[in-house]
Amino acid sequence: MKKLGKGVYLCEWGERDNFSPFTLLGTQPKEDKRADAECPFSEKELVFEEKEDGVLLSLPVSEDEDFYGLGLMFKKVRQTGRQLHLRVNSDPIANTGDSHAPVPFFVSTKGYGVLVLTAREATFSFCNAIQKRRRSALGENRIVTDVNALYLSDNRGSDVRIFLRGAKGISIVIFAGENTLDAVERYNLFCGGGALPALYGLGILYRCFGGADEKAVLDTAQTFRKEGVPCDMIGLEPGWQTYTYSNSLCVNRKLFPDFYGMVKKLREQNFHVNLWEHAFLHNSCPLYDELFDKSGDYEVWQGIVPDFSLEEVRRTYAEYHEREFLSAGIDDFKVDECDSSDYSTNWSFPPYAKFPGGTNGEQMHQLLGTLLAKTFHDRKKTDNKRYFSQIRSLGAGASPYSFALYSDLYAHKDFVRGIINASFSGLLWTPEVRQCESERELLRRLETLVFSPFVCVNSWMIPSPPWQQWDCEKNNRGELLENREELTKKCRDILSLRMRFLPYLYAKYFEYALHGTPVFRAMPLAYPQDLRFRDCEDEYMLGEDILIAPIDADTNAQRKVIFPAGEWIGFFDHKVYAGEATIGGEMPIGVYVKRGALLPLAQAAENTDAKPVPVTVYAFGASEGETVLYEDDGESFDYESGKYNVLKITYRNGKIQTKSEGKFGGKLWEIAGAEEINV
Ligand code: GAL
Repeated sequence: MKKLGKGVYLCEWGERDNFSPFTLLGTQPKEDKRADAECPFSEKELVFEEKEDGVLLSLPVSEDEDFYGLGLMFKKVRQTGRQLHLRVNSDPIANTGDSHAPVPFFVSTKGYGVLVLTAREATFSFCNAIQKRRRSALGENRIVTDVNALYLSDNRGSDVRIFLRGAKGISIVIFAGENTLDAVERYNLFCGGGALPALYGLGILYRCFGGADEKAVLDTAQTFRKEGVPCDMIGLEPGWQTYTYSNSLCVNRKLFPDFYGMVKKLREQNFHVNLWEHAFLHNSCPLYDELFDKSGDYEVWQGIVPDFSLEEVRRTYAEYHEREFLSAGIDDFKVDECDSSDYSTNWSFPPYAKFPGGTNGEQMHQLLGTLLAKTFHDRKKTDNKRYFSQIRSLGAGASPYSFALYSDLYAHKDFVRGIINASFSGLLWTPEVRQCESERELLRRLETLVFSPFVCVNSWMIPSPPWQQWDCEKNNRGELLENREELTKKCRDILSLRMRFLPYLYAKYFEYALHGTPVFRAMPLAYPQDLRFRDCEDEYMLGEDILIAPIDADTNAQRKVIFPAGEWIGFFDHKVYAGEATIGGEMPIGVYVKRGALLPLAQAAENTDAKPVPVTVYAFGASEGETVLYEDDGESFDYESGKYNVLKITYRNGKIQTKSEGKFGGKLWEIAGAEEINV
């Protein structure tokens, strides 16, 4: 066992693989300022076995311990008693380990985490494997006829097992701490710290209709400003290219005759532009010949698959993007299809594909999204410009990259689990809103969206925004809703909530970057000792002061909210809550503020451009309180060399006091006043 840093321990057995995601990413851990912690295991407690077809590692477990994590899982939160085989796949149908973004890192409620340094598809089994025993070791015979009792097995295995098929050795990193959150923070710091997106990235992204031309894009953008619906980013779908799928990465001049002029106009109206693409390159792409020999041996959608594990490929790709897009004012990308699926032919390369850098298809699937994110991230760092882009696959080590994951799937319950599960694994996820089946569904989805890591309204299938017509077919036929004005107002109000929460949200993202503390947190991550939350799949924390309980968009059914100890104040109704409550029906999404919290809220603006932003602080159910905001330029990586301010805000006896300390010369927030929310 080798100590890598405070509370971080490396253990290795057998013959190691040549590479892991971390060697390829060149990960540089960020300094951990907290106290050291001892490894929760002694070396002899960890049992390594070499099998004919792979290696197995077993870790002991105590009785009341529960397990979480392994990436962006949609189907379950608590993984105790389950087995998952981590495989990149965009169409998970059950809790089997298929995911857009599996991460071989799990945490325990005992306050530690374990990361496997591998690009293989690892299998994790949490207390569900039991080796055969002698009759004398078994319990009494019993007769069970009730199905529930039958499935409620009292056979809990006594270990966590990690199996790596085909491997001859295994390397793991153990993250120790006082609690589960410590372990996650340490993992994120080990990866280089959490992502700090550009401030505009915390606003709203609207993705235009797939068939939109230059005029339609500019008109859409104008409508936002005309109707006062907040929007910071405009996204273009595949149609901006001359060829897709695979991709030419060349502008379609028929639809966009003055493409760069359009980008300029959008920038002048404070929209940041985001371009859809994927990295399977068509023979009409200018990079095709150069990258042909540096690609895998299988095609995808008649395109080559460049090997992004090679530094020169990343450089060539990034330079092309710099020349063609970034230098022209395009800030972000939606990096699509870098996951895989079993459903359609030639969706992706096969597991037995070979890449020149030495990986096979199985490994490349696990790595591709993260390597692409790194490609863009490194370029952005060279340009000293922060960003917030989208990607459809990520894996281990992705914490520092400002990329939000998204999906073509749409079950609202799964989307909420996405927010919750992403928090264990250094991932950011957007429960994007598209067309809907009803007005109610649209509103419910938007409510969840604004309280998620990234806000994306993805209208790639509908020419008009969903608040003008949520029904896809009618929208495409141009049949707009009669009540569209009223619905636009309702949606504007919900989206404006996002803009109001910016100062708080930005502070939480800052803490994610500096300390690795996730912005959104699963309840068992925030309250690992509260057994009521061990199975919680429908509420989560935003920072430490706000509890979010979405109402299911598919059913609008009533639901129970469980409150952590103490009193919570309803954000909308200013009522006091404790213990449990039931919400639903006509009530808005559950948003509760911890009693005594000082919540800084901005004046809702159309976009994040005007600075400093006027902020009012609200003392929830108390006559005094304190909080901290962070200030920097909101757009460069200068904060990494200390160019930011910590703005301490204190409220007492009706008076507000602020103290700003740090190396940033400017001002991001203008504290305009304070209010007490009396309950
Ligand atoms: C999908 C993606 C959608 C949309 C579409 C365009 O793969 O998830 O959001 O961009 O491609 O073809």
